[in-house]
Amino acid sequence: MRAVEIRTFGAPEGLAVIDVPSPVPAEGEVLIDVEAIGVGGVDTVIRSGALAGLGGFQEGFIPGNEVAGTVTAVGGGVDPALAGRRVWTFTGEGGGYVEQVAVPADRILPLPGDLPATDAVAIGTSGMVAHFALAHAHFAPGESVLVRGAAGSIGIMTVQLAAQGGASAVAVTTSSAERGERLRELGATHVLDRSGEGDGPPGYDVVIDIVSGVDMPSFFDRLKPNGRMVLVGVVAGMPPADFGAKLMATFRKSLSFAAFSADSIPEPDRRAVSAEHFGAAARGGLRPVVHEVLPLEKAVLAHRKMDDGEVFGRIVLTP
Ligand SMILES: NC(=O)c1ccc[n+]([C@@H]2O[C@H](COP(=O)([O-])OP(=O)(O)OC[C@H]3O[C@@H](n4cnc5c(N)ncnc54)[C@H](OP(=O)(O)O)[C@@H]3O)[C@@H](O)[C@H]2O)c1
Repeated sequence: MRAVEIRTFGAPEGLAVIDVPSPVPAEGEVLIDVEAIGVGGVDTVIRSGALAGLGGFQEGFIPGNEVAGTVTAVGGGVDPALAGRRVWTFTGEGGGYVEQVAVPADRILPLPGDLPATDAVAIGTSGMVAHFALAHAHFAPGESVLVRGAAGSIGIMTVQLAAQGGASAVAVTTSSAERGERLRELGATHVLDRSGEGDGPPGYDVVIDIVSGVDMPSFFDRLKPNGRMVLVGVVAGMPPADFGAKLMATFRKSLSFAAFSADSIPEPDRRAVSAEHFGAAARGGLRPVVHEVLPLEKAVLAHRKMDDGEVFGRIVLTP
């Protein structure tokens, strides 16, 4: 079968289509014929080589954490009735840019009704991360939320969940008025520029930050007393080394800062939230945003679009 590997760390052109043996489902596994692969921000970070020292990422790694498709075979001890079922799965540490994947049967989620595989990979992980990030921030109905870096797949889901969760205001940072309008359609009430300037409320109870980078501490000033900032992503790089000192400079506001990783959430809890989101999407209550669907062979182009900041929502590959 075809797969896409990171042959050389660095530019998108370091991705290469290769032939690998088709997997055979082992005891307790199912084989999925992949129809949609979600391209995550983390895939491009791994490809750049920035994480080479962490988690054992090496050249030759096959990226991709989230796929959806149809079960075509089952291993020993697995209910044969699962064959033919349309499912979504989080593959974990990569391995998703492939035509077929074998995963433990207890890690698949059935897709409701006719929810397209492309939609499932647009909301599966990103919706789950958004849900638990808001929970980590102790977000409550009636509170105001600022989503920094709202145009990506996690931000889009955070905007929708905050609005549906009864936020009094949902402000977003984004680089263009056009994206701002699209975010308003998804539930944003205020559109700010990347530095947080614009017509928003004077302060926020919660900031969900997907961007980080050197500007991150300036968003402490956007929080109300007792406000909470949760750092979810590092799209603009790590926060500056003195961010703790900057937090202490706001001491009298009793602010809280927390990092959030979905790795800290037990797998069954993650799956339960994704199942809920798939149901909501099938009913039209949550809107998956698929930027573009490209064939697996065009993984280089997909990564270039990600690197160029062109993607609003999720870019999806199909084998
Ligand atoms: N915490 C977790 O469990 C978890 C799980 C999965 C992924 N992640 C992390 O989440 C991040 C990817 O999330 P994503 O795919 O939703 O994001 P994304 O699409 O990569 O980026 C989100 C938005 O940030 C804005 N942005 C980009 N560069 C910026 C800059 N220099 N300054 C300000 N804004 C900038 C862009 O929107 P505009 O152009 O409109 O400003 C972009 O659309 C990665 O850091 C990944 O590691 C975290």
